[in-house]
Amino acid sequence: MHPGSPGTRSAAAGSFAGRLLAWWDVHGRKNLPWQRERTPYRVWVAEIMLQQTQVSTVVPYFERFIARFPDVESLARAGLDEVLHLWSGLGYYARARNLHRAARLVVLDHGGSLPADVADIRRLPGVGRSTAAAIAAQSHGRRAAILDANVKRVLARRHRVAGAASSAATRDALWRLAESHTPAERVADYTQAIMDLGATVCRRTRPRCPDCPVRAGCQAHAAGDPERYPEPAPRRKRRLERSRFFVVVDPDGACLVEQRPPDGIWGGLWSPPERAAGESVSGFLEQAGIAGRLVGEVRKAGVFRHGFTHFDLDVEPVYVRLRARPAAVRKDVGRWIDPGDHRLGLSTVAARLVGVTALFDAPKSGA
Ligand code: ADE
Repeated sequence: MHPGSPGTRSAAAGSFAGRLLAWWDVHGRKNLPWQRERTPYRVWVAEIMLQQTQVSTVVPYFERFIARFPDVESLARAGLDEVLHLWSGLGYYARARNLHRAARLVVLDHGGSLPADVADIRRLPGVGRSTAAAIAAQSHGRRAAILDANVKRVLARRHRVAGAASSAATRDALWRLAESHTPAERVADYTQAIMDLGATVCRRTRPRCPDCPVRAGCQAHAAGDPERYPEPAPRRKRRLERSRFFVVVDPDGACLVEQRPPDGIWGGLWSPPERAAGESVSGFLEQAGIAGRLVGEVRKAGVFRHGFTHFDLDVEPVYVRLRARPAAVRKDVGRWIDPGDHRLGLSTVAARLVGVTALFDAPKSGA
């Protein structure tokens, strides 16, 4: 077997892992907040945040989250509203709900220590095969292979693996390659190194092949077609949906929000009431229990489009300014929030509708 071929388990100098590690020692990221003070809890929170989100977006969210919930006990004790508040704007909110649920399980079932075994980590809500391996490798130095989007790209090019990475056969082939390249030594650094290579050198478009430490063994580089790999998944037609959001504002500028059902988009977050695109103002007011005589001005604002992973949503805002706040609104329609002072989870769309310009306060100077 020549150096660097699959099956090499050591990080010997000429192997794929060895070359990658030597490159990472010089060029890799070593000062990310979850790399400093590398505890299993911090690595776990980071890996969940990084699942669908890039490093530069995650860093400030991670810092705020860890400042408020420095350990698994504090997260387990917290209410979901506060957890979702700290996740506001990061998207994919099921991650936050699962993280919170998992923290409670870790406290109840594991005495507050995150399990070290990959299979046990994987049993936690929100943790799949690659995330479990990333946590085990980085926090316990366990030899476990990861396969996130960056790693798929690196390996699909290195071995010119045909087929979309979403197909089962291609995914299995990539997992086998990932397993075979993962070294027994320095596995935490290797895990970070292959992700860093994918993010900074083996980029989806315009890969920087001349700077790549493993280009010598790269089949796609040799064939001159690295950008062909991995092949894209067959495109499914994106759905377009449309909803009307009633932004009801009282004379003090407080806004009526309702909590969304736990499952589905923005699950558990708070939002101005979303109704069908055809819902009339009078129909909404009647359903919400708001008397027509309280209504001052009604104004429709411009429609804007929000993209989700598999569909787009056209958001149709209808602003309803009230002359007085009703004594009560129907319980299922919510509560009033002051745009300057909220501690609830809001999606970026809800924040935009209610006029919250920053989801988090600027840090207070001297505080
Ligand atoms: N994506 C998932 N985990 C990551 C990590 N630890 N560093 C950079 N990107 C990642």
